[in-house]
Amino acid sequence: MSTEDPLILTEVVDAVGVIRLNRPKKLNALSPALIDLVAAQMERWDADPAVRVIVLTGNDRAFAAGADIDDMTERSAVEMYERDQFTDWDRIRRVRVPIIAAVSGFALGGGCELMMLCDIVVAGDTAQFGQPEINLGVIPGAGGTQRLTRAVGKALAMDMILTGRMLSAPDALAAGLVSRVVPPEHVLPEAMKIAQQLAARGSIAARFAKECVLKAFETTLEEGVMHERRLFYMLFATLDQKEGMRAFADRRPARFEHR
Ligand code: CAA
Repeated sequence: MSTEDPLILTEVVDAVGVIRLNRPKKLNALSPALIDLVAAQMERWDADPAVRVIVLTGNDRAFAAGADIDDMTERSAVEMYERDQFTDWDRIRRVRVPIIAAVSGFALGGGCELMMLCDIVVAGDTAQFGQPEINLGVIPGAGGTQRLTRAVGKALAMDMILTGRMLSAPDALAAGLVSRVVPPEHVLPEAMKIAQQLAARGSIAARFAKECVLKAFETTLEEGVMHERRLFYMLFATLDQKEGMRAFADRRPARFEHR
């Protein structure tokens, strides 16, 4: 790869925006510049009605092996604080369209954290997951201590974060860290299949559904249920609700217009 090679590759396939992390020689180490590009591209697509789902992927060897260690090694605490590089990751958290991670190889440190910002995770059966920051004398810095704990529970999160051990794909599936495990060559096709299915459904309902599920991590059960109920009622202001329910009554496929 030359210095001219782009850090990410993007394309839109029908209504699906695909981002491929593209630092293969560095196992897709997530430099601040790379994360900024990912966040900016996702924000553009989030504002574009023609894109209704995003797929984020890496290569066969790595989804991403973490934040770029070379970029951090000699920095001072003040430099890290001033740069505040992880605020860019919050931009990805705020994307409203569903994001599907297609994960092969390593998803470590920031790579695992980036994956956990996605909504559905399709993993190859040889993929490996971990938060090995403890081996570097630090801790996860892009949400890992919080999101991993919410995803897999305290015991396993403590084990992974304190020992830095990696989880296999079947174990990650059993723990609830990923949604589906498939042979490595099927990872991207399976993610694209899910994305196309999702893109054919009503996009307002999809964004509301994502918002409600994420709300479950942020609020009480009662408030979350009330939030869900309000968005459920609000969907009755959309044409998609009428079309979806009428199509059911007519025994025909619905043709959603995303409005
Ligand atoms: N940052 C920078 N470079 C990285 C990297 C990272 N996170 N991970 C891998 N690389 C580079 C290696 O330095 C190497 O580069 P060179 O060829 O120029 O030497 C190249 O990618 C290939 O890596 P390896 O030769 O190490 O490949 P391997 O197959 O022997 O090992 C690995 C693979 C076990 C994933 C190993 O690369 C590794 O342990 N990587 C670091 C994993 C890690 O600690 N991640 C956490 C980073 S900190 C973080 O993410 C903080 C946060 O919370 C956001």
